[in-house]
Amino acid sequence: MNKLIVGFLLAMAPLFGMASGGAHLDDADIDLGDQASLQRGAKYFVNYCLSCHSAKFQRYNRTAKDLGLTEDEVKENLMFTTDKIGETMTVAMDSQDASNWFGVIPPDLSVIARARGVDWIYTYLRSFYIDETRPFGVNNVVFPDVGMPHVFWKLQGTQKAVFEEHDGQKVFEKFEQVTPGTLSPAEFDAAMRDLTAFLSYVGEPIQMERKRLGIWVLLFIAVFFVLAYLLKKEYWKDVH
Ligand code: HEC
Repeated sequence: MNKLIVGFLLAMAPLFGMASGGAHLDDADIDLGDQASLQRGAKYFVNYCLSCHSAKFQRYNRTAKDLGLTEDEVKENLMFTTDKIGETMTVAMDSQDASNWFGVIPPDLSVIARARGVDWIYTYLRSFYIDETRPFGVNNVVFPDVGMPHVFWKLQGTQKAVFEEHDGQKVFEKFEQVTPGTLSPAEFDAAMRDLTAFLSYVGEPIQMERKRLGIWVLLFIAVFFVLAYLLKKEYWKDVH
């Protein structure tokens, strides 16, 4: 049995290594029960991401319902690429244009939080740094040579990355702020936490419901266990 567990852990190890590209990931610490956070995240998503990335499995009316917004609020604040509330979050950009401009087509972000993990997303969004050798003048610590520009440069400001040599390998050490953003570092982190929470929600819209339901299921099992135990005692009491 122990061998099985060790074997399983060993088999999974490369997965964890691969997901982070070896870089340290910060704890996203999102709260999916916090609707205000999800609403702010949705706003960042439609304003800063939806111009390039779609979330084509996510419908606006579903978003309204899950985030506690009215359909009118969603229409007014979140819908820029369509005016039909039953529509999915598609992107207006032509995919040929996209690959001309960025070299790659920005991927759909419907399930990105599940593919990469929320810690990776949270770290990625905060890890763009100045690199003049790149087409957009930025690079990313967790996604080297990324084809995406730093869309939050106004909010976060710009930063440079300090690397150290360890055994001939460049290892990321820390960031140094170059120009300030309109948000303080703490405010920017909070904003990225909201956005990460929204992407996590989009990755599995049912997850809040699933967790709520899970508690009832566990309670049911607990009660059922007591009944089953009493029944067993009743059946076996004459056997000895
Ligand atoms: C100007 C267009 C553009 C905007 C705006 C943009 N991105 Fe991107 N994004 C890209 C491109 C292009 C890539 C592909 C990078 C690559 O493969 O090198 C990418 C890649 C990504 C990835 C990594 C995908 C992977 O392969 O794992 C994530 C996550 C991501 N973007 C999230 C976001 C979020 C969140 C926003 C909004 C804050 C955003 N992007 C805004 C163009 C954009």
